[in-house]
Amino acid sequence: MSVTSPADYTEKIPNNVSLNEDRRLQRALESWQPDFLDWWQTMGPSLPTQDVYLRTAVNVGREGWAHFAHVPMKDYRWGIFLAERDPDRRVGFGQHIGEPAWQKVPGEYRADLLRLIVIQGDTEPASVEQQRNLGATAPSLYDLRNLFQVNVEEGRHLWAMVYLLQAHFGREGREEAAELLHRNSGSADAPRILGAFNEETPDWLSFYMFTYFTDRDGKYQLGTLKESAFDPLSRTCEFMLKEEAHHMMVGTTGVDRVVERTAQVMIENDTDDVAALGAIPLPVIQKYLNFHYSVSLDLFGGETSTNVANYYTAGLKGRWMEGRRKDDHRLTDDSIMVDSLLEAGHGEQSIGQVEVAALTGLNTDLRREYISDCASGVNRWNKILADAGLPQRLKLPHVAFNRKVGAFSGIDATPDGEKLTADEWQRRRSQWLPTTVDKTHVRSLMRPVYERGKIAAWIAPPRNGINGKPFDYDYVHLA
Ligand SMILES: [Fe+2]
Ligand SMILES: [Fe+2]
Repeated sequence: MSVTSPADYTEKIPNNVSLNEDRRLQRALESWQPDFLDWWQTMGPSLPTQDVYLRTAVNVGREGWAHFAHVPMKDYRWGIFLAERDPDRRVGFGQHIGEPAWQKVPGEYRADLLRLIVIQGDTEPASVEQQRNLGATAPSLYDLRNLFQVNVEEGRHLWAMVYLLQAHFGREGREEAAELLHRNSGSADAPRILGAFNEETPDWLSFYMFTYFTDRDGKYQLGTLKESAFDPLSRTCEFMLKEEAHHMMVGTTGVDRVVERTAQVMIENDTDDVAALGAIPLPVIQKYLNFHYSVSLDLFGGETSTNVANYYTAGLKGRWMEGRRKDDHRLTDDSIMVDSLLEAGHGEQSIGQVEVAALTGLNTDLRREYISDCASGVNRWNKILADAGLPQRLKLPHVAFNRKVGAFSGIDATPDGEKLTADEWQRRRSQWLPTTVDKTHVRSLMRPVYERGKIAAWIAPPRNGINGKPFDYDYVHLA
């Protein structure tokens, strides 16, 4: 039997958490809502629109969890939805394995759970801020609509985290909810918590790379929180993952379409040098990939972490696909190989691996799952190149390349994992990371195309539209 009920969209805050039965929580959320709308107006999408063809979450059932309609973005109904509750759910790992899942926050884990929710929550509005001006240069109405869809859903993910804070963490939770709107991406005095969320997303190639690599980090983090013994967190993240699938699609097919168009222009003109022909050269695509992949790897933290080991043992945060792992789900006797700098004698260091306790290596375990997922995208982009008859290939750089966090943060390395001196790095980095010239060229291609069915020259049209609509559908009505 379902314990959840369909959302009532006549309420101020659509929800399936029986908000009307909790006056105190309802008031806390209603007093946060105007601040959220204020933030959306000043930090959200800057392009004025009448309405956008958007998906809105309305329920959590297996069939029909969302509906599609043209809606003015400022009237978008950001709601609170948790996946259906399994009354028999048990803790799946750690020292509490087999005990009933928690409906309330245990006092001993309160500070750690608060921290995990705040860090996840901080990423959601950050990406909206990073993408705020992209509407001015969208390559098509279809892409513009997808940008806004991602934006409103990241806004809803913020609501999801704020609900947990306000429902389960009292005054501290309310203070953290306010802070989530106070910090801003790239701000000098109050930046977002994680590095990649303070980088700019100034052009659409960056947007597709961000949704492919950085949003995908989000998918993996949500996957670990979905395993949490704290059931409301688990159910919240499970529902968010449904929405993330669309964000992944935007990134994957976005890069597909850039690669496809570049390949076409290369073949038609029999040249690799497509910059002057209005397309993005493959080496520039590779540099953008190198950048976004390496800053996203940093989001997984250090190769080893005792905090993360403690989170696992406590049952707060599991592994990706915990239920499918064939082990004891406690990991107290297991080990794992993790990346490390090795002493090579004479004060020299080399790039290698060491064996550590499986619990302390959990960041590496998650990052490994993420990397193999990233590799699947590179394979499909290379298939596009191969099908076009081109010999060039894209690739993921080595884990030691361009790192600011973890074992390799103190060294410089090539995308092939060859260690460099600081001087060599400075001399050669422009071969591997986007230069001012590259970025300026990419930005010069970013001219808006707002006519139905038309597309910018640097990208191929999508194979499919949204929700069965054609590519030339009127996805957005501009103001
Ligand atoms: Fe999100
Ligand atoms: Fe996302």
